[in-house]
Amino acid sequence: MKLIIDTETAMLTIEEEGRQRRLNLYSDEAFEAISRQWVRVGWNQKYQYTFAWMGRPVIQLPEDLIRVQEVVYRIRPDVIVETGIAHGGSLIFYSAVCKAIGKGRIIGVDVEIRPQNRAAIEAHELFDRITLVEGNSTDPETVSRVKAQIAPGQTVLVILDSNHSRDHVLQELKSYAGLVSIGSYIVATDGIMLDLYDLPRGKKN
Ligand SMILES: C[S@@+](CC[C@H](N)C(=O)[O-])C[C@H]1O[C@@H](n2cnc3c(N)ncnc32)[C@H](O)[C@@H]1O
Repeated sequence: MKLIIDTETAMLTIEEEGRQRRLNLYSDEAFEAISRQWVRVGWNQKYQYTFAWMGRPVIQLPEDLIRVQEVVYRIRPDVIVETGIAHGGSLIFYSAVCKAIGKGRIIGVDVEIRPQNRAAIEAHELFDRITLVEGNSTDPETVSRVKAQIAPGQTVLVILDSNHSRDHVLQELKSYAGLVSIGSYIVATDGIMLDLYDLPRGKKN
């Protein structure tokens, strides 16, 4: 695919599979096409690894964090369950939002919580709302440990950010869907993976 940005004529030309489309550079469609390439290039450059939230590295694009914050503020969940902890930045971010709202706690699940990450998360001033669960997120025993910490009737928001392969995400959706309250969400993050497999750093599964 070729994208030709002409700022002089304010046109975007998209050449793909022998076809050519010309769009107003300042249209929603042009913004989407350019943004898609921006995400692809940024992902390949590991741009999403360059951020931290209150001292903990957070592997997210800031826009996504803002969008999740919008959901948390609207849903005001009792519990946020997130699979995929890594350095803990997103757990600390949700904890900060919950603290600001004055409601909510967070259960983080990861197949491997490295000792230095665990120590830093546990020492953080926003750890008081966080519970760490170590285990494969789709292992029934891990799912039971998460469920055991949620009381009936609680409002639950689930965020899936662990292994982004198709099979794992499907299994996570099946494992955690039952926890999601009516009107709340299960967010399968990194839905962009389909757009990334053909990049130098990508893989097809
Ligand atoms: C993208 S990182 C999570 C980023 C984190 N949510 C953040 O925003 O900073 C993915 C994490 O998922 C974990 N992971 C991979 N496979 C997993 C599995 N089967 N079950 C649970 N966690 C898994 C990895 O250990 C890694 O820490």
